[in-house]
Order: sequence, then structure tokens, then C-alpha cells
Amino acid sequence: MFVKVELVLLLVCPFLFLPVMSAALEDAGFSYNGFRGANISLDGIAQITPNGLLELTNQSRRQMGHALYPFPFNFKNLSNGNVLTFSTTFVFGILSRYQNLSSHGIAFLITPSRGLPGARPSQYLGLFNESNNGNPSNHVVAVEMDTVLNKEFSDINDNHVGIDINGLISVHSATASYAIDRSGDRKNLSLTSGKPMQVWVEYNGLDMQMNVTLAPIGVPKPDIPLLSYPLDLSLIIKDHMYVGFSSSTGTDPTSHYVLGWSFKMNGPAKDLTISQLPKLPRLGPRKKSKFVTVGLPLIGLVLASTVLTIILFIVTRKRKFAEVVEDWELEYGPHRFKYKDLYVATKGFRDKGLLGIGGFGRVYRGVLPTSKIQVAVKRVSHDSRQGMREFVAEIVSIGRLRHRNLVQLLGYCRRKGELLLVYDYMSNGSLNKLLFNQPGPETTLNWGQRFRIIKGVASVLFYLHQGWEQVVIHRDVKSSNVLLDSEFNGRLGDFGLARLYDHGTDPKTTHVVGTLGYVAPELTRTSKASPSTDVFSFGAFLLEVACGRRPIDPRASAENVILVDWVSSCWSRGTILETVDPNLGNDYVVGEVDLVLKLGLLCSQSIPTARPTMHQVVRFLAGDAPLPDSSLHSLSASGLEFAHGEGFSDFVTSHPSLQNTSMTQMSLVAHSLLSNGR
Ligand SMILES: *[C@@H]1O[C@H](CO)[C@@H](O)[C@H](O)[C@H]1NC(C)=O
Ligand SMILES: *[C@@H]1O[C@H](CO)[C@@H](O)[C@H](O)[C@H]1NC(C)=O
Ligand SMILES: *[C@@H]1O[C@H](CO)[C@@H](O)[C@H](O)[C@H]1NC(C)=O
Ligand SMILES: *[C@@H]1O[C@H](CO)[C@@H](O)[C@H](O)[C@H]1NC(C)=O
Ligand SMILES: *[C@@H]1O[C@H](CO)[C@@H](O)[C@H](O)[C@H]1NC(C)=O
Ligand SMILES: *[C@@H]1O[C@H](CO)[C@@H](O)[C@H](O)[C@H]1NC(C)=O
Ligand SMILES: *[C@@H]1O[C@H](CO)[C@@H](O)[C@H](O)[C@H]1NC(C)=O
Repeated sequence: MFVKVELVLLLVCPFLFLPVMSAALEDAGFSYNGFRGANISLDGIAQITPNGLLELTNQSRRQMGHALYPFPFNFKNLSNGNVLTFSTTFVFGILSRYQNLSSHGIAFLITPSRGLPGARPSQYLGLFNESNNGNPSNHVVAVEMDTVLNKEFSDINDNHVGIDINGLISVHSATASYAIDRSGDRKNLSLTSGKPMQVWVEYNGLDMQMNVTLAPIGVPKPDIPLLSYPLDLSLIIKDHMYVGFSSSTGTDPTSHYVLGWSFKMNGPAKDLTISQLPKLPRLGPRKKSKFVTVGLPLIGLVLASTVLTIILFIVTRKRKFAEVVEDWELEYGPHRFKYKDLYVATKGFRDKGLLGIGGFGRVYRGVLPTSKIQVAVKRVSHDSRQGMREFVAEIVSIGRLRHRNLVQLLGYCRRKGELLLVYDYMSNGSLNKLLFNQPGPETTLNWGQRFRIIKGVASVLFYLHQGWEQVVIHRDVKSSNVLLDSEFNGRLGDFGLARLYDHGTDPKTTHVVGTLGYVAPELTRTSKASPSTDVFSFGAFLLEVACGRRPIDPRASAENVILVDWVSSCWSRGTILETVDPNLGNDYVVGEVDLVLKLGLLCSQSIPTARPTMHQVVRFLAGDAPLPDSSLHSLSASGLEFAHGEGFSDFVTSHPSLQNTSMTQMSLVAHSLLSNGR
């Protein structure tokens, strides 16, 4: 019957019996080298890791962890009530994610209850809270390893060891260090070094003195303690007390570990067996031996890189000079260049040899390896095979053309996603650079040169449109596509590249390729290039050369932004010569300038059939035929309207807002924005 009651009591209220179970032996103690299977009571985020580490905190911010030996010890001599001698030693490690940024600390503690109700993390170390800190009713003794300087608790620095009685203001503390010999010379230790350290806490109940000693792991206990403090614990320590650890983190991610621990009442704690302690986990970079950090990788690197370089050399050489050749290209054999030759010619397409960057690609200067001919190599990126065959056919057939005002295409080369076009090198660069980039009468082209260039470009366009077995449309006539040879002859370049980008069939979705200000209005609607769309561009070109201005100049005053409008309005007022390039001064032939300007207007008409043919243009320029007065009159009658009624100025004026623009016009604007560099 009695046994039964006891059993029921034990089941209902097991705590009642715990003190009795544990405190029996006055020289009780324990020793754990690692905590696998240890008698430990955990709370907070504390846990035992699989390899036996007691992990009090784990990098989580503002957390705490407690670990207590689950049974209380009898701390008092029952016959006289004095606090008994006790001793403990443990190995701990603090791992911070960021070097020198740690929070907050770890403490060995002696506490009357098997928990710390109300305790808070961060600066309270999981021991106290703002209201009970320093309260004598706590009956807590702690030894803190504190890594944060807390002015609130009168901390001496951010790397100290202190003895705490009932609160976080240490009764005694010192910078973490250890005595290296009996003379008292000390060596500082960094609690946050990430290396394990050993602590000994000893209390002598007769002398009423507490010693705390610290040392790096593996160093025998130094003779001189770090803290040696006279302390009467009789009013603080209760009869039965629990021992354990508390840790807390704040804002800096930190883990606190205990690797091993032994405790003993009435005598020295059992030594820990360092070799049996579990290892701290790795966190971030740790120092390794020179051989591992430098030697091994170096040897590996040398070996691997030797093999790699050999493989890479072979592979890259193959890939570097790889070309795309298809069956249909065989007939163009003579016009094909080896990529390797072009690579050598341009010294690897160095930026130093860059002649210009256009909408279709970059142009490099080079010297062909065997013939030593100077060439310009244009790299056009093109990832679609669609239209490539036709395009190559066209450029090669144009390459067979010979005309003194044509930039000679010498050949091409094809690579994956890339087309390379090889042209004669033009030593004086492109016309637009001389027209726009170097203002000032000294460097500009004189009228005689300009007129010769105009006539040259007219003659080659006439040849392309009418003088050859098939009609060839250039599609991108403009000053930047007119190059100047060593004698300042104008030569038309960049043949049909526009076509390569323009092989769609549905005018609604095709993007028209050309350059804003040179594209004939009907082209924006039908996207069908014809000789008269070239004539329209030529008209813009004429005005450019005579006026020294781009067809659209956003910097001009509002009504003069569009060159053709301005020339046209000046002409209707009878002041057409106002538009002549100021860089020319008065040094020009009035009749020729007048002719060029009017011809420019004539070619810029929005109705294709109203424009002259290139044949007529050549005759006008040569003075073989007078400009037709009638068409000029009709031009004057319609005045500015001709430009506004049609797409040309539509998309120009709507350009800022893109209002009321059709799909075609939108994509035209988009494209011309992209090819602005040209
Ligand atoms: C845990 O404590 C109980 C009671 O003191 C004891 O019987 C047991 O052996 C302990 N276990 C270990 C692993 O120390
Ligand atoms: C830390 O431990 C807690 C509780 O065990 C867990 O929720 C958290 O994810 C852990 N954090 C890290 C960084 O491991
Ligand atoms: C307890 O106190 C008594 C009387 O002062 C003493 O004889 C005894 O040795 C003490 N016991 C311990 C364990 O210190
Ligand atoms: C960390 O602190 C140590 C000792 O104060 C110092 O030598 C080291 O330069 C510090 N490291 C960083 C990253 O601040
Ligand atoms: C502080 O802890 C005590 C118990 O030790 C608890 O009664 C009190 O409510 C806590 N105060 C705060 C503000 O958390
Ligand atoms: C040890 O640290 C303390 C406090 O930071 C400092 O005053 C002292 O100079 C240091 N001693 C050595 C040997 O570095
Ligand atoms: C504390 O250290 C001093 C030497 O500094 C020593 O005389 C004393 O016996 C030590 N006390 C304990 C309890 O180890």
C-alpha cells in the first residue's frame, strides 16, 4: 500500500524526488569529453550536435540556449551551512560568421532552478532580464566570457572574462588572457578567434575565494589565474543548485559551443581528455597549413593548367578560326577569305585598328598577310541563315562590278553568327566625318571637292540603277556610306546590307531598314525598295553636302529641324543660299550650289514618280539638261506640304511620342534609333 502511494507520487510529481536522488553524495561530479549521450537538460535553441558538441546557439540572431546538468548539487556543508569547495573546467568555442563581429557571449552558471524563466538573449546573456538584473533574489552565480562591450553593464571591453553575482555588472573582470609563466607575463587571447579555449573555475569554501583561469586548448592550466577574487557565496548559493551554461546572440551571427565539461564538488574537477573532444565545425575560411593552402593547389594548378593549355590551344585554335562554308558557296570560292587571314590582317581585330562602329557592325583596318593590300574588314553579326544565300549572291555579284565611285568589295568570310566583308581601304574615311565632325573652314571640304563627290555618287547610282545587266538598289545612300579615297573621290560603300536585314514579305510586320531622314515615305508604307527610294535618299544626301548638316538635326530651331523643310521654305522665300554650309564661306559657285539644293528638293518629293531618275540627275549635274521649271513650280506650289502630308515627316514629328505611327513606322523609328551610330 505504502509503496503504491510512493509510486503514484513519483509519477505525479517526479520533481519532488529529484533533489533527493542527486544530492546524496557530497563529492558528486561528472565529466564529459563530448556530450554524446550525456545527462544534459537543454532549452532555447541549445542542442547536442551529432558529433557530440554542445551547441548553445547556432548563428541565429537574438537567440539563447541553456544547458544544465539535470540534477542539482548539494552546495552546502549540512553541519555548518558553509558553501562547499567546488571546481569545474570546460572547453568552449565561439564561432562568428564575420571576423571580429561576435555576439554576445557564453557563461558558466550556478542557478537555484532548472531553468532561467524570463531570461532574455543579447546583452542579458540568457541569464537575466531588464527587470530582474542585479536582483539579490536571483541567487545566480555566473562566469561570463563576454565578446561585446556593454556600457550599460560597465564592461571593460569586448573581450573579457568576468564574475557575475545576480546580475550582469561583473563584480570582477579582466581582458581574456593567460599567464605564460610564473613571473606573471600574460598573453592576450581573442574569445572570438574561433579557436577552442579551456576555462577553470574553482571556489575554495574555506578561503572564500574564486579563481577563474583561461588558456588556449592544449595548454596546461596556467599557474596564475586570470581572476582571483575573494567571494563569500554563502548568501548567494542555496542548498541545492544546478550548474550549466547559458549563451546568447544579438545581431551578429554567432555560434557558441562547449566541447567538454567536468564538474566536481569538494575537489578538483577531473581533467578533460583533449584528444577525445569533438571538433568545432568549420565556418568560413580557416587557416590551413601553407602546404595545403599554397603547395597543393599550386602543384595541382601547374599540372592541370599544362594539360588544359594544350587542350585549349588545340580547341581554341580550331574554334578561333572556324568558318561556316556551305555547298552553295563553292562557286564564290575566289571571293572567300580565310578567317585566319583576316584575323592576322587585323591583328586579331584589335580596338586600335577600329575604323568605326556602325549599325551593322564594326569596321577594322587591316593589311592582308600575303598581298599586303590595305583593307577594311566589316564584321556584321547575323544569326539567321535566312536570306544569307541571296545576300552573298548579291554582294558577290556587286563585287564583280567595277566603278571608280564604288568601294570595291574584295570578298567575304562567314562564321557562325557572323559575316565578314572585306573592302578596299579608303584612306580619307567617310564623308560625314569631314562634313560634320570637323567644323571650321580650314579642315572642311571645299566646294569643288564636294561637287565632284556629288557627281561621283550620282554616276555610280546611275550605273547601278540603269547601267548594268540588272537593277541594283543600294538602299542606304547617305553621307556616312560615302567614303573618300586618297584623292578625295567619293565612293559608295556598304552595299545592300540593309537588304540582309530586310527579307520579310509582309509590309505590316517587316521592319524597314534604313536611316531616319533618308528613307523615302513610300518605303515606310510598302517596305519595297526601288530606284526611286534610292533617289529620295540621294536627295537628302545632296542637301547634306551642300548645307553641311544632317537631314534631321534636333539641335536646330524647331522649324528648321528637318533640313528639307528648311531648304524648301528658304527657297520659296527666295533665300535658298542662306542654307549653304557656313564653313564654305563665300567660296562656292553659286550656280552649282543652287542646282544642288534645288535638285535635292526635287529628289525629296514624296510622290515617287515626281522624282527624277538617276539618269536625269546625272544630266542635270553635268549641265546637259536644265532643271525642269514646271516640277519646281509644282514643288513650290505645294510648298512644305509635300513633306508633311507623307510618312517622312510624319514619323519624324511623331518620333518623340510615337503617336499615330503605324507599325512600320514604329519599327523604322526603333531601327533608326538602334543604328544611330552610323
Ligand atoms: C544520468 O544520470 C543518471 C542518474 O544520476 C545516471 O544513472 C546515469 O548513468 C547518467 N547517465 C550518464 C550517461 O551519465
Ligand atoms: C538554429 O536552430 C533553430 C532551432 O533548432 C533553427 O530553427 C534554426 O534554423 C537554426 N539556425 C541555423 C542558422 O542553423
Ligand atoms: C562540514 O563542516 C564540518 C564542521 O565544520 C567539518 O567537520 C566537515 O569536514 C565539513 N564537510 C565538508 C565536506 O567540508
Ligand atoms: C580582428 O581583430 C584582431 C585583433 O584585434 C585584429 O588583429 C584583426 O585585424 C581584426 N580583423 C578584422 C577583419 O578587423
Ligand atoms: C524577468 O524575469 C522574471 C523571472 O526571473 C519574471 O518574473 C519577469 O516577468 C521578467 N521580466 C520581464 C520584463 O521579462
Ligand atoms: C592585451 O589587451 C589589453 C586590453 O585590450 C591591452 O591593454 C594590452 O596592451 C594587451 N596586451 C598585449 C600584450 O597585447
Ligand atoms: C587561486 O589562485 C591563487 C594564486 O593566484 C592561489 O593561491 C589560490 O590557492 C587559488 N585558489 C583556488 C581556489 O584555486
